[in-house]
Formats: sequence, structure tokens, C-alpha cells
Amino acid sequence: MDEKRDVARELARKHYAAGDPLGWFEALYQQAAGDFGTIPWADRAVNPNLAAWCEREALPRPGMRVAVVGCGLGDDAEYLSARGAQVTAFDLSPTAIGWCQERFPETKVDYQAANLLEFQGDFDLVVEIYTLQAMPVEMRGKAVEAVGRLGREVLIICRGRDETDPPGELPWPLTRADLDVLTKLGLSRVSFEDFEDPFDAGKRRFRAYFRR
Ligand SMILES: C[S@@+](CC[C@H](N)C(=O)[O-])C[C@H]1O[C@@H](n2cnc3c(N)ncnc32)[C@H](O)[C@@H]1O
Repeated sequence: MDEKRDVARELARKHYAAGDPLGWFEALYQQAAGDFGTIPWADRAVNPNLAAWCEREALPRPGMRVAVVGCGLGDDAEYLSARGAQVTAFDLSPTAIGWCQERFPETKVDYQAANLLEFQGDFDLVVEIYTLQAMPVEMRGKAVEAVGRLGREVLIICRGRDETDPPGELPWPLTRADLDVLTKLGLSRVSFEDFEDPFDAGKRRFRAYFRR
């Protein structure tokens, strides 16, 4: 896993240096040429912290319109769809979106290639997992706001750190204050969980749920 991360970080560094800090995602997917083994986040399974939350909260309810931000290879979107939600899942990388469509030819999910910073929508629930932490820190405020503008309820799962911790390296953990930008948009924090990932030892996670 560390080797895969190093390759991704190097690619990101090159794109940052060339003034195209979001370009490395598409480059990484293209470079993978269909090999899951080279994508650090390609677990090919639903995120277990999402599944646990859905079970516990009995959400999303069937028929809810759900957006999945930065859907990667589609496993979370497919899980939410299988629970009866009407899912729109988007990713900046057209190659990732093509890969989702190939993997799930019978899918009910509406997959779209789109940039979070431009995407428009009005969903019941917005699910964001590990995208904000992979975007440039300078874009974070705008990116969190873009997530918040998409719907009435927002679930974010990400790496977490304290304000006083060093910012770390890609993927850059978020602080509680980063997420609380959502309260400026009229969303209230319903729950905020700060925990060591039971499925990935040593990783500090935040799981935060906001509602308008
Ligand atoms: C770290 S991966 C996580 C993928 C998936 N959410 C998961 O948990 O497996 C981040 C994903 O967000 C996508 N992404 C990055 N910036 C984006 C943006 N501005 N708009 C939409 N998607 C973006 C990347 O292409 C990548 O698939």
C-alpha cells in the first residue's frame, strides 16, 4: 500500500509543479490501465465505515436522492443504490467513470464525470469519502462549501487531525473547523465521530453528519 501511495504522491507532486493540482487523478487512473492494484483507494468493496453508519442510522431511506462525491470506482455508490437510494455518483476522472460503467453494466447509478467545484444539484443526502483530503489544501474551504451546497444532509468520512497537529502529507487530514464551514451554509452538525478506524489500524477518522 505504501508503494502505491508513493507512486500517487509522486504523480501529484509533478502535477502540482506543473500548476495542475487536480490533474493527477485522471493521470493515475489512465496509468492504471484497468489494474486495480495500482490505485491506493481501490478496495473494490463498500467503505466499511459508510456501511456501518447506514446500518446504524437506517439511512439512506429507499428513494432518497443521494449524491456520491468523488466516487472513484463506484463501490460506495453501488452499495447505496442497492439500499434503494436513487444515486448520482460523480468523479473528476472520466477514466474512473468509464471504469464504473464497465464494472457495473446493469447499474441504476447515474455516473457522471464532473468537478465538485462546478457540479450543481439538489440532493437529499450528499456522501463524501476521502475526496476532500486528496484535494489541494488551498481549495479546501471552497470544496467543503461545494459539498454542502449539493444537498439537505451531508455525510463526510475523512482522515482527521487536531488544529495543533502538523498538516501531514497527501492525503491531508481535515480538522473539525474545516468541516464546520458547513454550518455557515445553514447546515447543523448532527453528529461528529472522532475515532481510530477499526478496519484500518492507526488511522484517525472523522465521520460527520450535517443536516439543514
Ligand atoms: C482518494 S480518492 C477516493 C475515491 C472514493 N471516494 C473512495 O473512497 O474509494 C478521491 C477521488 O476523488 C476524485 N476527485 C478529486 N478531486 C475531485 C473533484 N474536484 N471533483 C470530483 N472528483 C474529484 C478523484 O478522481 C478520486 O477518484
